[in-house]
Amino acid sequence: MKGNTKRSYKARVISSERISPSCGVVVFERPEGFPDALPGQFVSVRVSDSTVPLLRRPYSIMDLTGLELALLVKVAGRGSAMLASAGPGEVMDLAGPLGGASFDDPGGDDAVLVAGGTGLAPMIFSARTWKRRGSRGRLYLVHGAASRDESPDSFFEADFDKVFRATMDGSAGFSGDVVALLAKLLDEGRISAPLLYSCGPAGMVRALVERTGDRFKSHHTSLEAVMACGVGACRGCTVPLREGGRIVFKAVCDDGTVFRASDIAWEEWW
Ligand SMILES: Cc1cc2nc3c(=O)[nH]c(=O)nc-3n(C[C@H](O)[C@H](O)[C@H](O)COP(=O)(O)OP(=O)(O)OC[C@H]3O[C@@H](n4cnc5c(N)ncnc54)[C@H](O)[C@@H]3O)c2cc1C
Ligand code: FES
Repeated sequence: MKGNTKRSYKARVISSERISPSCGVVVFERPEGFPDALPGQFVSVRVSDSTVPLLRRPYSIMDLTGLELALLVKVAGRGSAMLASAGPGEVMDLAGPLGGASFDDPGGDDAVLVAGGTGLAPMIFSARTWKRRGSRGRLYLVHGAASRDESPDSFFEADFDKVFRATMDGSAGFSGDVVALLAKLLDEGRISAPLLYSCGPAGMVRALVERTGDRFKSHHTSLEAVMACGVGACRGCTVPLREGGRIVFKAVCDDGTVFRASDIAWEEWW
C-alpha cells in the first residue's frame, strides 16, 4: 500500500490512562477528515506549541475507530512525557496517517505477531483491524519487554487468541528475550503458523530473522528508526534493502514502515 497523506490535524485528547509505570494510552477524538489508516502506519505528533521539543515525535497508531484515535506511549524523554501527561481537552497537532506500506491482512491464515516494547501498538491495531474485517485465523502475540514495568497486561489480551510474554529481568512471563521465547514456543510445538509479523528494535528483528530461518512462509516487519521529517524528505531514516541484486536505500517513514524482513541488508545497516 502506498498512499501517504501528509496533512496535519488538530486532535483533542479524550483520555489519558497509565497502564504500567512507564506506559500510557492516550486517546484522541478522531479529527474530522482524518483518513482511514492501515496497520503499521503512524502519526507524527507535535507535542508542544513551543520550540521545545522542536521536532514532531512519531507514534504508531494503536487503534483508529470512527470516533477515536489511540496511541500507546512509553515515557522515554521529554516529548513522550509531555504526550503521556496530556489531559482531557488538550489539543495536539497530529500529522498522518504516515507510512507508505502496511501489514497485509493474513487472509484467514494463522499468524504470529512478535512485538518488542512499544512495538506492541501496531500489533494491537493489526489484530483489531483484521478481526473487524472478519479475519478468522488465529493470532498469537509474543511480547517482550525489559521488565514488568514496560509490559502492560490485560488491556489488549482479548485482541489475540493467545498471548506469551517475556521480560529480560524475569519479572513477568518467560525470563529472557522475546526471540528466545519464540524459538522455545516453536520448538515445543506450542505455536505454529505460516505467517510472522514483527515490530521492535532493529536488533530484535535481525535476531528473529536469524533464529527463525525459513520456518515461516513470510515475515513482514515494521521498522523503528529515529526520524526527523517523517515524510521522506530528509533521508535521515533510510534502511538498505536488497533489490534485484543491488542495494537500495529506502526511507522507513515513507517507503515503510513495513518491509519484507528478508529484503533487509543487515550487514550494510546494523
Ligand atoms: C515509526 C515509529 C513508531 C513509533 N511508535 C511508538 C509507539 O507506538 N509508542 C512509543 O512509546 N514510542 C514509539 N516510537 C518511539 C517514539 O517516537 C520515541 O520514544 C519518542 O520520539 C521519544 O521522544 P522523547 O522526546 O520522549 O525522547 P528523546 O529525548 O528524543 O529521546 C529519549 C530516548 O528515546 C530514544 N528515541 C528517540 N527517538 C526514538 C525513535 N524514533 N525510536 C526509538 N527510540 C527513540 C532516544 O534514543 C533516547 O534514548 C516510535 C518511533 C517510530 C520511528
Ligand atoms: S525521517 Fe525524514 S526521510 Fe524519514
